[in-house]
Amino acid sequence: MNSEKLIIFDTTMRDGEQSPGASMTKDEKLRIARQLERMRVDVIEAGFPASSNGDFEAVKAVGKVIKDSIVCGLCRANDKDIQRGIDALAGANAWRIHVFIATSALHMEKKLRMTPDQVFEQAKLSVRYARLACPDVEFSPEDGSRSDPDFLCRVLEAVIKEGARTINIPDTVGYAVPEQFGEMIRSLRERVPNSDQAVWSVHCHNDLGMAVANSLAAVRLGGVRQIECTVNGLGERAGNTSLEEVVMALRTRKDFYQLQTRIDTTQIVPASRLVSQITGFVVQPNKAVVGANAFAHASGIHQDGVIKARETYEIMTAEDVGWSANKIVLGKLSGRTAFRQRLEEIGIELDNEDAYNKAFQRFKDLADKKSEIFDEDLQALVAQEASISSNEVWGLVSMSQASGTNDKPQASVVLQQNGNEVKADSKGDGPVDATFKAIESVAQSGAELLLFSVNAVTQGTESQGEVTVRLSKGGRIVNGVGADTDIVVASAKAYINALNKLESKMERLNPQHQM
Ligand code: KIV
Ligand code: ZN
Repeated sequence: MNSEKLIIFDTTMRDGEQSPGASMTKDEKLRIARQLERMRVDVIEAGFPASSNGDFEAVKAVGKVIKDSIVCGLCRANDKDIQRGIDALAGANAWRIHVFIATSALHMEKKLRMTPDQVFEQAKLSVRYARLACPDVEFSPEDGSRSDPDFLCRVLEAVIKEGARTINIPDTVGYAVPEQFGEMIRSLRERVPNSDQAVWSVHCHNDLGMAVANSLAAVRLGGVRQIECTVNGLGERAGNTSLEEVVMALRTRKDFYQLQTRIDTTQIVPASRLVSQITGFVVQPNKAVVGANAFAHASGIHQDGVIKARETYEIMTAEDVGWSANKIVLGKLSGRTAFRQRLEEIGIELDNEDAYNKAFQRFKDLADKKSEIFDEDLQALVAQEASISSNEVWGLVSMSQASGTNDKPQASVVLQQNGNEVKADSKGDGPVDATFKAIESVAQSGAELLLFSVNAVTQGTESQGEVTVRLSKGGRIVNGVGADTDIVVASAKAYINALNKLESKMERLNPQHQM
């Protein structure tokens, strides 16, 4: 069957980064970008270059290394923002400038304080400006799904005339419902006279849990050929269309959609893990495609059916989406070469020899505590290594704690503060609480603990625990991650990682909340 192509536009590092606490450093963005390229995403929206110098540098760095995907930067509809986008991306192999301005009456009047005619002019002029430097320009009318269709048609016709090659209709607040949204796109494409000169796209938010359904309705009823989405559905508030869900829906139901993407689906689970480890946003176990239970059959009837014929209860296989069946890959006796080779096989590339040496040392420490090392352990180990920067204020030297059914839990920690050792003890409601209180008694950060979550990296009681700690202070929200076979130690590492991020001047406020 010769099917048409659908473009996958990933915005994990732009819209996904807008989730509170999900802000990413340049190195983290580079790691995610390489994985997205490996997954064969068509367009990678790497950030919002005008939002901060840090994001400008991150977008530029992604533009430099990525060769097989188009790298895109988001810009508000003004020359200054667009010039920042051009400066960040002009050296890239293939690049796109994505210009947006709100078109709903509500946003124009209350947020922009502009008349529709002013918005119309600004949309036109900004696309014209972007096209002077970049042949690949995308235009988004923000809050498009709640905009007046007549006004939208006028704006879209004008920006296509100015050279916009992709028209992306956002459902910014997740208000749309599938049939109505699909019909709306169909009608826009019919009514805009030059609509055939652009690729049509949608960008849906998940406030009513319908982002994937709305995107697919826009494909089926509206004829769009680009979907904007994020890994794990990360994004503002309830998130965006989930990449793994749309890709697997299109693939599994190719009989219905008759479209194909370029995505290498075996890279989906590694991408999901990487994004989860970097942002600290844990994937719920029952999440479609990438949740830990997505392929686990618990009931006897289902297990029996799957053993007799897999298709009885499975519409896709775990291997299709990259679940490696918890293979033991390395152990205590594995050497440097085997370690490095396995990292390469699962797509982990470290920056230099020093990073490989450090990671190998941590691997040896882990192998002393845990006899079987799985791919997931390697991913957690490298994620933690990458989250530690060279000039940290706080470090964990040692710790111990005591707890029991009749005793008040107690913890002692020895920390390194700018190279000096400091010791502290505390009691608490549990060993983790006592440990955090002991750390706080010396760090005195005054930060508020917003989230504490523990996830087993693999199965069994020998598994490493991966802990996420989210702290908030003075309007900044940071996520710390830590992994260890002892979950209290993992918790301490995560707390200290978050404290270091709070201390770091480089750690940005959520980029778009700065504007
Ligand atoms: O949700 C939205 O409207 C956006 C646009 C900037 C595309 O993210
Ligand atoms: Zn959005």
